Amino acid sequence: MNAPWKPGAPGGRDAFAAYICDDAALDVLRPVVIEMGWQPEKCNKGGLRNAVQSLSISASPNILMVDLSESGDPLSDINALAEVCEPGTVVIAVGQVNDVRLYRDLVASGIHDYLLKPLSPAQVRDALVNAQAVFAAPKQHDANTAKRHISTAVIGTRGGVGASTIATSLAWLFSADEKMPTALLDLDVHFGTGALALDLEPGRGLTDAIENPGRIDGLFIERAMIRANDNLAILSAEAPMNSPLMTDGAAFVQLEEEFRQAFEMTVIDLPRNMLINFPHLLADVNVVLVVAEMTLASARDTIRILSWLKTNAAHTQAIVVANKVQSGVAEISKSDFEASIERKIAFTVPYDVKAATNAAKLGQTFADANRTTKAGAAIRDVAKSIMGVGEGETIDDKAKPKSSLLGKIDLKGMLSKKPKPADKARETA
Ligand SMILES: Nc1ncnc2c1ncn2[C@@H]1O[C@H](COP(=O)(O)OP(=O)(O)O)[C@@H](O)[C@H]1O
Ligand SMILES: [Mg+2]
Repeated sequence: MNAPWKPGAPGGRDAFAAYICDDAALDVLRPVVIEMGWQPEKCNKGGLRNAVQSLSISASPNILMVDLSESGDPLSDINALAEVCEPGTVVIAVGQVNDVRLYRDLVASGIHDYLLKPLSPAQVRDALVNAQAVFAAPKQHDANTAKRHISTAVIGTRGGVGASTIATSLAWLFSADEKMPTALLDLDVHFGTGALALDLEPGRGLTDAIENPGRIDGLFIERAMIRANDNLAILSAEAPMNSPLMTDGAAFVQLEEEFRQAFEMTVIDLPRNMLINFPHLLADVNVVLVVAEMTLASARDTIRILSWLKTNAAHTQAIVVANKVQSGVAEISKSDFEASIERKIAFTVPYDVKAATNAAKLGQTFADANRTTKAGAAIRDVAKSIMGVGEGETIDDKAKPKSSLLGKIDLKGMLSKKPKPADKARETA
């Protein structure tokens, strides 16, 4: 619910836990729990409040029994429980109040069953068997409510084009504006700026993951990721320069897999050399933002990256974002750039040095620190389009290649001394 970094995978959850106020009820419960094959030590002394407290810092069990006896306002306490309890948990309430209205209200707020004290073994057994069946049953609405997940990789065509600026901004917008549980994975392992942009310390999480990919699971993610806001957790590193990256990329793929379970959005800051070493990183990625600047070298590498994506990751939607665009001062004009890459630039983010300075000063992401600027608005447009991907929209329909353009545009000015980037890339592709 509001704790997206909690493990969502079944492996990370206990089968059963109970928070019961009195020993008499615990004495009835424990033998039945043992019969069910569950751990009796998961029957805790305490009531609803204790349940809320401990579930706020740990994974929810599949089936949860809570005692309302010491709760002054059971309904509002149940709502507090819903806040910390993962969806899917089957909750059985226990209490002393024999009141049909309370029972109805509890059921309406998502409680599966209500058991009246004093408990009897048969009554408890029936309730637990029933709860187990409900938990195990295929959820009818699963197909529709299956957690959607959009994974976006941000690749800079060259260093310094602003890929990390855009990746961190998007992660912030998804998590803070759209309230989507979001993970930011910064794969610039030695020089990552994901944490820096948010004024955080990267910690050892990513380094640990690379060293011990076998340890990566829901719980690992919960502990290793740095929390940037209520909905944003990041994994970034400043690995020492004297330790080369010793990995076959398994850790990264495993991390992506876990993010898919625990979050709704993943943003991967993906340096282009990582693409060469670990092409399988894009296997489950939905959207690739190719961030370019208006230079000849960037045009060439945009062509090469787009062509690589077409061959090796055709399932992804590739979108070209031009960053640091200054009218009149560009090495290549926008139209020449589009002609040479044979498609439209989908989004243009203007060069705004004041905005960059502002973000650095505030320790906030570029888009967050500069909401009223054109550059900030442009990145918000990118975020909104990616949000739409889940609803079946394609982003760059308007940016499809225009085959006729290339022949018509005179690239002489930019290409008289150098080979046409498109041709060169075709040779090498
Ligand atoms: N639209 C922009 N206008 C001005 N400066 C920008 C813009 N986008 C990024 N920058 C600045 O460019 C520098 C490089 O950005 P960064 O995101 O680290 O690039 P990359 O990750 O592609 O190497 C940073 O100092 C950043 O603040
Ligand atoms: Mg970067």
